[in-house]
Amino acid sequence: MSPTERLDGAAIARALGREPDSVLVFDEIGSTNDYVREHAAELPTGAIVFAESQTRGRGRRGRHWVSPPGVNLLFSVLLRPSFAMEKWSRLTHASALAVARGIEAVSPELVAGIKWPNDIFVAERKIAGILLESHASGSGNGERFAVAGIGLNVNGLGADWPEELRGELTSLRECRADKEPLLREEVASAVLREFDALVAVVEAEFSGMLDEISRRSTLLGKCVEAILPGGGVIVGKVAGFGENGEILLDGGEDRAPRSLMSVERLRIQSSGARSPE
Ligand code: BTN
Repeated sequence: MSPTERLDGAAIARALGREPDSVLVFDEIGSTNDYVREHAAELPTGAIVFAESQTRGRGRRGRHWVSPPGVNLLFSVLLRPSFAMEKWSRLTHASALAVARGIEAVSPELVAGIKWPNDIFVAERKIAGILLESHASGSGNGERFAVAGIGLNVNGLGADWPEELRGELTSLRECRADKEPLLREEVASAVLREFDALVAVVEAEFSGMLDEISRRSTLLGKCVEAILPGGGVIVGKVAGFGENGEILLDGGEDRAPRSLMSVERLRIQSSGARSPE
């Protein structure tokens, strides 16, 4: 294995104690999330699909996920949770926590923060994003599954990204003092070890995870402006996170606190001033 070689799926499967055929690696694919969704019926629970390159990599809210070929980690995991679907949002937050812990496991000098709900930041730049998608079959045969998609910048460097994103993104290599490329198999195994452990207990132990998610939050206590999917705007101070990972915004004075499951965009208000909803 070397940092510049094609990703070794068998090495990742071995490190995780999984069957070799539960880890697939494609050189180029549209989107690993789409592949898992389209092939869910043939794939075992926990199957992991990596791509060296995606032609239609997707982020949340229809955004693109851009990553140069062969340098970062782009993968999706097939999940078949047995608990109620209203709790599946927890999987986004557990995945974000797994990535944050995995980053610190391979690079203990770094501090990984979580920008609710799905962005991982190091040194104030985004290093990873999560795209969790739930699917329930309309046929009523009970086939339901979730796909946890993770994009983690490992060895990409500034010049690898489109110019408009250069100031916003970073990678593990860029953040580390030695600036040496990392073995992506080791990074993937570190993240997936945490992922497996957290997903296994996400129904029973989510409240404990929320403590760590809050500690790692880049938003807690800050005044934010939330743009809602319908276009409305809510402003409030981030007071915490709810039982399924909702963000709790304190509107101040006589306004009732708001709990939001999903937003179009969240911006920290630089002045700290409150503006009307
Ligand atoms: C975001 O930050 O908005 C989420 C980005 C998620 C990107 C990953 S890359 C692997 C998987 N396949 C996709 O098409 N998207 C996710």
